[in-house]
Amino acid sequence: MEIVIYPDPRLRAETEAIKDFGPDLEDLGKEMLEFMYKKKGVGLAGPQVGILKKIIVVNPTGEPGENEHELVLINPKIIESAGQETGEEGCLSFPGIFGEVTRPKTIKVKAWDPKGEEFVLDASGFLGRVLQHEMDHLDGILFIDRMTPAQKLKIRKQLKKLVKEQKA
Ligand code: CO
Repeated sequence: MEIVIYPDPRLRAETEAIKDFGPDLEDLGKEMLEFMYKKKGVGLAGPQVGILKKIIVVNPTGEPGENEHELVLINPKIIESAGQETGEEGCLSFPGIFGEVTRPKTIKVKAWDPKGEEFVLDASGFLGRVLQHEMDHLDGILFIDRMTPAQKLKIRKQLKKLVKEQKA
């Protein structure tokens, strides 16, 4: 696996709902988690590794040993959200760039696990933020899209540099 870096068009592509559940999908989830740990991330979405399908993996601890915090979500959807909270985010597809993003504070997510079991998850705080960030990736939405104009201005130079590096 390799990380897809901004402004690669795959980060803006549409993703496909997953219909085939089972061992292959379980393996993909595990592979994505391992890769996420290797990259020191807390979340990873399909498009970020060139897989244009609705799969995300998260572990807010970022620690491979803390596997009770690991989540693999297939075809996830926010079914309720409330409140508002601003916090700092980064993204493996934007190395070295961090910025404040405002999002709903609490969410209820419906998703399927790789075996095909449907589940509902209530999340807030950092986990809620990570889940929303990763789910956005499945819709081609990036955290820079959700930054305030002031925040965007602050990272403008870094973003320009990143785009230039990717073209080189
Ligand atoms: Co991201």
